[in-house]
Amino acid sequence: MVQGLRIALAGLGTVGCGVLKLLSDNADLIKRRTGRRIEVIAISARNKNRDRGIDVSRYDWVENAVDLAKRDDIDLIIELIGGSEGTALDLARQSLKKGIAFITANKAMIAHHGLELAALSEQSKAVFRYEAAVAGGIPIVKGVSEGAAANCIHQIYGILNGTSNFILTTMEKDKRAFLDVLAEAQELGYAEADPTFDIDGIDAAHKLSILSTLAFGTKIDFDSVITSGIQPVTITDMNEAKALGYCIRLIGMAEKSENGLFQRVSPCLVPLNHPLAQVDGSVNAVALEGNHVGRLFFAGAGAGAAPTASAVVADLVDIARGSRTLPFGMPTQSLEAVSVETADTHTSRVYIRLSVINDPASLAKITTALAEAKISLDSLAQHHNNDSGISELILVTEPCQGDQIKTVLTRFATIPEIKTTPVVMYILNI
Ligand code: HSE
Repeated sequence: MVQGLRIALAGLGTVGCGVLKLLSDNADLIKRRTGRRIEVIAISARNKNRDRGIDVSRYDWVENAVDLAKRDDIDLIIELIGGSEGTALDLARQSLKKGIAFITANKAMIAHHGLELAALSEQSKAVFRYEAAVAGGIPIVKGVSEGAAANCIHQIYGILNGTSNFILTTMEKDKRAFLDVLAEAQELGYAEADPTFDIDGIDAAHKLSILSTLAFGTKIDFDSVITSGIQPVTITDMNEAKALGYCIRLIGMAEKSENGLFQRVSPCLVPLNHPLAQVDGSVNAVALEGNHVGRLFFAGAGAGAAPTASAVVADLVDIARGSRTLPFGMPTQSLEAVSVETADTHTSRVYIRLSVINDPASLAKITTALAEAKISLDSLAQHHNNDSGISELILVTEPCQGDQIKTVLTRFATIPEIKTTPVVMYILNI
């Protein structure tokens, strides 16, 4: 008879509770699909007495999660503690060294230590899986590393943070304030423990660095992801973008070309007819361009207890079935170290909004600065506010390099008629 699979769960927050619920709701189905009984033996979390609406008395309660890796009666550990260092990392190292299969939803830990953990998994032959770490319930790790494995991929991009997308789309639709919508995203269980990771683009950058490795076969390089968040985005920009035929989304985009690896997370103007413009609320979406398959587009719930638990348990089902795929789709030794393309040489069309004093001299100074930076304009719109004496100037450039944008912003800083810091956003042209 095939043996049962003995599980330990570290972390009983939103996702941990979601995993227990899913394993209970779908126990029979999972047993039929795997041919094995999945048995949760032990649990570790910070506070045993917190009311989670779950009876934890039937599991062994382990105070220090790292002790789970010392036991001999555990086949697989699920880590849902979070954080790139500390207990989560100690537990990952100990489990994989000992040969215990390991599942995590911890994108920060993988972005920082994924290669080390993958190497440990290769040495000990312990399976290491992390589907839930990228884009919540979407099977994107499997999609890229298995479904698209035949292709050379040059580009992967998408909406990788549910909280930011929920905030942007709700602000736009319901005209609600940023902080109010963020509080709702936290209540719904979308946001990270530290929500600055969501709104500053760091969480999306963690995920993008993992996707790059899966897509391009390059070593994880989180430090080179150029990252900016959604806080500067205003309703004014959303309205201006709409008038131009765009909406604003936080986009993670990675490209590998002869210039090197380029990775950026930033609010972007997305054409209203692009599939990413239809992605609302906490939904995530990822597109990749493969040289034989063409564009693949994946979409689905990107955050929250049930979708994330779905991805965790999908890994569990795979392991229970005996799947032994490598964490990054190839041996860690085969992952390439590539040079980084900085924003200076990367080309894009750019949206710039300037608040400018109504004065005949202002526009001349601005166009001179653009000419000095050798930037051509695709369009220019001006909205006067006669009461304040300030005009909003909306510039859309022709494709130009990041260093040209840097130059023009330096020039703009010397123009006294420009009253606030320019708002600059890239235009998605894929
Ligand atoms: N805080 C994350 C998000 C959760 O909002 O997308 C899923 O990784």
